[in-house]
Amino acid sequence: MSEPFPQLNPDLNQLLLVIGRKGSGKSMNAREVFRGWPYIDKFVIDPHGDADPGDDLGTVTLTSLPDKLPTAKKGEYAVTRWIADPASSTYREDLDRAVGLGLFPQKRRVLLWIDEAAEVFPANRLGPNARLLLQQSRHYWTSAVLCCPRPINIDPLCLGQADRVIIYDLPHPRDRERVAASIGIEPRVLNRELDETRARGPYWFMMYDARAHELYRCPPLPLSSSYKHAQQ
Ligand SMILES: Nc1ncnc2c1ncn2[C@@H]1O[C@H](COP(=O)(O)OP(=O)(O)O)[C@@H](O)[C@H]1O
Ligand SMILES: [Mg+2]
Repeated sequence: MSEPFPQLNPDLNQLLLVIGRKGSGKSMNAREVFRGWPYIDKFVIDPHGDADPGDDLGTVTLTSLPDKLPTAKKGEYAVTRWIADPASSTYREDLDRAVGLGLFPQKRRVLLWIDEAAEVFPANRLGPNARLLLQQSRHYWTSAVLCCPRPINIDPLCLGQADRVIIYDLPHPRDRERVAASIGIEPRVLNRELDETRARGPYWFMMYDARAHELYRCPPLPLSSSYKHAQQ
C-alpha cells in the first residue's frame, strides 16, 4: 500500500476495470481517464445513454451502429459515442459488434469506454468480440475502460485480464471475495484496505496495478469542469 499511485502510461494498450456500488464515482473516473488519454481514436459504448464524454471533444453521437468507426482529419483523433437501444431485438449482438469496431481494423489504435460492462461481458456468455477484446486486446491495439457495479455479474476474464482494477466503495462480501481471489490479494487484507478507504470519505478509491502487483489508496479525482452526466 503506497501513495501516490503511478500515472497511466497511454502508450501501452491496456484494460482498466472500474468497480463499486452505484453512485460511488465509477463513470466519473472512467470519463476523466477517457478524456485525458492522448493521441488515440475513442469510442464510447453506452448501453444506458449516460456515458457522455463531453461535447468539447468534438464527440459524434450515434444511435445506430456504423460498419466502421468514423475517422478524423489527418493529425486529429475521432471521438464517437454510440447509444445502444436495449429494446432492440438485436441488442446483445449489437453490443458485441460495437466491441468489434474497437478491434478492427487490427492496427487502428482505439480506446473504448464501456460504461455498463455487465451488458457487454455477461458472466460465461461472452460474444466473440468481447472475448477477443479481453484475451487479446494488445494484438488489436485496443485499450478499454470498463465500468460495472458488481464484479460477480461480469465474466471473470474482466478481472483476470485487467491491467488496473479501480475499486470504489464495494460493500458486498461476495464481490470483495471475487476481487481478492482474482487479483491474488488475501481477502482479509483487501477487506481492511477497502474499509479504510471508505472511511476516508466519498469518492476515495483503491487501485490495483497488476504489473506491479500493488494496491494503492487514491484520493478523489479532480473532475474536469465540463461535465454533463445523469446524477445517479
Ligand atoms: N471525484 C469526484 N468528486 C466529486 N464528485 C464526484 C466525484 N465522482 C463522482 N462524483 C459525483 O457523484 C455522482 C455519481 O458519480 P458516478 O461516477 O456517476 O457514479 P457511478 O458511475 O459509480 O454510478 C456524480 O454525478 C458526481 O456528482
Ligand atoms: Mg455510472
